[in-house]
Amino acid sequence: MEKYIINGGNKLYGSVKIQSAKNSVLPILAAAVLTDGKIKILNVPQISDVKNMVKILTCLGCRAVYNGNDIIIDSSYADCFEIPSALAHELRSSVFLLGSVISRFHSAKIAYPGGCDIGLRPVDLHLTGLKRLGVKITERNGYILCKCDKLYGNEIMLDCPSVGATENIMLAAVKAEGTTVIKNAAREPEIEDLQNFLNRIGAKVSGAGSGTVTIEGVKSLGGCEYLPIPDRIEAGTFLIAAAMCGGEMVAEGVHPENISSLIHKLAENGCKIGLNNDKIIIENHGRLVSVKSIETQPYPGFPTDLQAQYTALCGVCEGHSIITENLFETRYKYVPELRKMGADITVIDRNAFVRGVERYKGATVIAHDLRGGAALVLAGLAAEGRSEIVDISHIDRGYGSFEYKLRNLGADIVRVTV
Ligand code: EPZ
Repeated sequence: MEKYIINGGNKLYGSVKIQSAKNSVLPILAAAVLTDGKIKILNVPQISDVKNMVKILTCLGCRAVYNGNDIIIDSSYADCFEIPSALAHELRSSVFLLGSVISRFHSAKIAYPGGCDIGLRPVDLHLTGLKRLGVKITERNGYILCKCDKLYGNEIMLDCPSVGATENIMLAAVKAEGTTVIKNAAREPEIEDLQNFLNRIGAKVSGAGSGTVTIEGVKSLGGCEYLPIPDRIEAGTFLIAAAMCGGEMVAEGVHPENISSLIHKLAENGCKIGLNNDKIIIENHGRLVSVKSIETQPYPGFPTDLQAQYTALCGVCEGHSIITENLFETRYKYVPELRKMGADITVIDRNAFVRGVERYKGATVIAHDLRGGAALVLAGLAAEGRSEIVDISHIDRGYGSFEYKLRNLGADIVRVTV
């Protein structure tokens, strides 16, 4: 097991280059199974979720070659439709493979997906959508078994704008016979990125980002070289780090419009923020003031994936805040750990009631999930004294070279194997 040791109190200065979006790269990797054309994905983050997704692809018979931060996938040798359980349990995005594997083999078998322990995370919307396209689904002994003679386009209305269900149905519909319309589709930038990737290999997808996605089935797909959008959650995490520690930081290679909800909140907290094309400049030299209430919402609302990091910031602002987590049932596992650092936060159901304290005190805390773990790192960076963040494998799932990038900004953080 590995941990971070942090000596808090350093301000952050300098610039940080943002990686390609984890939540774009993962569905794009799943989409690679749809085509025999060669796919080259650029600036892929070196994170364990991507590594595990690539392992799944190779278990299906795909060939994968890393070339620096790029990766080349050749699915022309794919010959297996069973996603290995051990890997399926590792990551939520394994479920996205259902759509592309069914499209290729007209069969698929997968164990229920894993991923961060932040809620029930059912897959009912995925399965209902696939059934609407003609897939026969059996759920038995912890497995989802799918079969179809052919995939037919259809109209699908999602009960909630699920990111994964939208992506899964898009992948299954790309080579279906006829047109598929997904209503109440997720609007996240990663959905539009998947649409752009699919169209680059010859699909006919439109409407991503609007809430209604239309997919006209095509007969064949080719290859391409593709640079996914930058990771808005990594960018937001670094912006919050700079806000909490103080200093002057530039996040480079970002799409500011994709995290405008956070940018507005940080300005309300008292940060000075400038936007310049693909750069966000943030400056703070004093104690921030609380924002009264924050509610996580599907895009373009405040992202649930920044809830933990932003709550850590609220914990050292002057005043009180109420955070409401509307998407996941148990996304506050980091709060008891933050309280070990002196945070004054009370969680009742989906609400976190925060009274800002002057400063966190260094402590030994445990990461329970990806974004909660990142929040604890930010708290350690801003805290007085030494902190240890234990079980950082959760953080490695979504942040590549995290401690390296933070050290480059002046943070005192090292990774230690225990
Ligand atoms: C994606 O997860 C992201 N993961 C999550 O990021 C992100 O938090 C989430 O979207 C919301 O933005 C990836 O893209 C790999 P959902 P996903 O389906 O697709 C309910 C991170 O930290 N729901 O949009 O699993 C569900 O319970 C990760 O990077 C159903 O009820 O999220 C939740 O309440 C964490 N039935 C809500 O929808 C379903 O079939 C949103 O979930 C599917 C979802």
